[in-house]
Amino acid sequence: MKRDQELRLQAYEEVEKNRRLVEDDPYRLKYHLMPPAGLLNDPNGFIEFNGVYHLYYQWMPFKTGHGAKFWGHYSSEDLVHWKHEEIALAPSEWYEKNGCYSGSAIEHEGKLYAFYTGNVKDDEGNRETYQCLAVSEDAVRFDKKGPVMDLPQGLTPHFRDPKVWEQDGRYFMVVGAQTDALNGAAALLKSTDLMDWSYEGILAGGDNGKLGYFGYMFECPDLFSLDGQDILVFSPQGLEPSGILYQNVYQAGYVVGQFDPEAGEYQHGEFDELDRGFDFYAPQTTLDHKGRRLLFAWMGVPDQNEQEHPTVEHKWLHCMTIPRELKLVGGKVHQVPLEELEELRSGQALECSVNLIKENCSFEGVEGNAVELELTNISIEGGWMDIAFGDGCRVIYNPGTKLFTLERKSYVDGTVEKRQCLIEELSSLRIFLDTSSIEVFLNGGEECFTSRIYPSPNDQSITFSASGSTSYTLYKWSLTSP
Ligand code: FRU
Repeated sequence: MKRDQELRLQAYEEVEKNRRLVEDDPYRLKYHLMPPAGLLNDPNGFIEFNGVYHLYYQWMPFKTGHGAKFWGHYSSEDLVHWKHEEIALAPSEWYEKNGCYSGSAIEHEGKLYAFYTGNVKDDEGNRETYQCLAVSEDAVRFDKKGPVMDLPQGLTPHFRDPKVWEQDGRYFMVVGAQTDALNGAAALLKSTDLMDWSYEGILAGGDNGKLGYFGYMFECPDLFSLDGQDILVFSPQGLEPSGILYQNVYQAGYVVGQFDPEAGEYQHGEFDELDRGFDFYAPQTTLDHKGRRLLFAWMGVPDQNEQEHPTVEHKWLHCMTIPRELKLVGGKVHQVPLEELEELRSGQALECSVNLIKENCSFEGVEGNAVELELTNISIEGGWMDIAFGDGCRVIYNPGTKLFTLERKSYVDGTVEKRQCLIEELSSLRIFLDTSSIEVFLNGGEECFTSRIYPSPNDQSITFSASGSTSYTLYKWSLTSP
């Protein structure tokens, strides 16, 4: 208890100490969830509980690096206005001394059960892992119950990020894993009471997985049903870039299939990336009372030039994506910005009918650093179209090559770097810009690009160009801090 209090006090002091620096950062975000100071990574324990949404998150309050993580906590009644709550979990006990790592939450008998990984490293750096339970009546204060299972045979201590769900009166858990032969895997566990867990084997990946060698570790698995299919989302580590695919250090994506709860088996198809941008990792979903499958992801990737972000000198690092709703369309997961986000719009849309012939244009009132744009009825004849956001980034579509490109000015050395995907036809675009982030949704969420960007803060221009002849209807809203 004493250690817990100490850690909390130290964390709050650190936040206080850095408050001004964080507030003064021109790249501080207006409507994205970010840490009050320090580093934020994975979304954890995302749940709607007693009519309130809770999003916990991996938090290192003391520095903009990784280490002994806390669970920070945001809550919201509408998924738009969020309140920063007191620390949910501090790494105070022996079984979590190097971090209360990622996990999930489920409601049980009116209480919130949070499962997370206790990370422990000994003096030689050897890793131990404990899957732990903490119970809460109000989703704010947790009673730690400690580890609830042993590490299964055949797996290394890279075993973490439990995601729990209830199905047919039983509980299941998927955990990110690595086999003794160093293959990434998603492990399945089962329980009747959430206390005793039995290992059911490998669900996907592993030594004989359908995907073949698919990296050395799967992080943050999440299995859920969507429109009659069972989707396994996970973040594999160790894939080599392949053409325009797998360009980031680590990936985040999914397979579609059928889960058999009796046999504990999962048949699935090929892996697809969930996002094509520079910064998207460790997504987590939940089901809300409207039956929607909601997703948040970390807008960052581990080990990807993290200390070079300009926000580091303002003592904070990383943020969450906007919340999205998942849909399954023709076997592909689409991500759609939550409709509640319309509340961020200040006033009416500015609407213009755009016709460009070999020119660059900007439109009065269409500028800013917290903006939503929507382009519908896109038609491109000859060449390509593009939209540039200050000197921070540019999106380009070329119907000739079918390539959609996001280019950004690298925050490491200022050079131009790009991410791409193939898209047969581009009919609409929706873009969410915040001071240092961009999220681009193609054709209603069929593809998506999520990235941190750092345009010169005084350059809030938006420029529309066409190399041939391009037309569309453009809507623009200014977005405000909720
Ligand atoms: C993913 C991850 C998880 C781990 C957590 C630690 O980004 O590495 O596997 O639980 O972050 O912060």
